[in-house]
Amino acid sequence: MIIRPATGADRSSVVALWETVFPDDPPHNAPSKVFDAKLAVQDDLLLVAVDENAVIGTTMAGYDGFRGWLNRVAVLPQHQRRGVATALVHHAMRQLRTAGCTKVNIQIRSTNAEVRGFYESLGFDVEERLSMARHIG
Ligand SMILES: CC(C)(COP(=O)(O)OP(=O)(O)OC[C@H]1O[C@@H](n2cnc3c(N)ncnc32)[C@H](O)[C@@H]1OP(=O)(O)O)[C@@H](O)C(=O)NCCC(=O)NCCS
Repeated sequence: MIIRPATGADRSSVVALWETVFPDDPPHNAPSKVFDAKLAVQDDLLLVAVDENAVIGTTMAGYDGFRGWLNRVAVLPQHQRRGVATALVHHAMRQLRTAGCTKVNIQIRSTNAEVRGFYESLGFDVEERLSMARHIG
């Protein structure tokens, strides 16, 4: 398996992976829109894990000069529990550290709380925060 930045050629594989792994995405998170938007901004932080020429996992990071964020950490079901997401997150955290980032945040939907154990295995702690958001587009 290798981990590398995604390119436009990965679009259909990544979209299919996200459709499989995030089946309940709302329309504003449509995989094709998310992929295109990320390739337009900090595209080197959209990573794919590739095994035998197939995209089996992704992670998408961002750095705003203060905090780093991780999104779209996802591995195809048949490749889970083999350390793929761990390798992706470590790779992304190295990139963020190189960019000057000292703290990485993630958000987990309350309906997906079971993945908490995955992030804890990587050293993430739960912080008491109220997450708020507003659509402006
Ligand atoms: C969460 C996810 C990315 C983990 O991917 P993965 O490649 O299977 O993770 P790893 O193999 O690197 O797991 C490393 C460790 O994390 C923990 N872990 C992984 N998945 C877990 C889960 N679902 N529940 C609890 N702990 C988990 C385990 O300690 C695991 O080590 P082990 O297999 O030796 O027990 C994957 O389950 C996934 O794609 N889920 C659906 C998408 C999703 O919800 N993404 C997160 C959005 S916030």
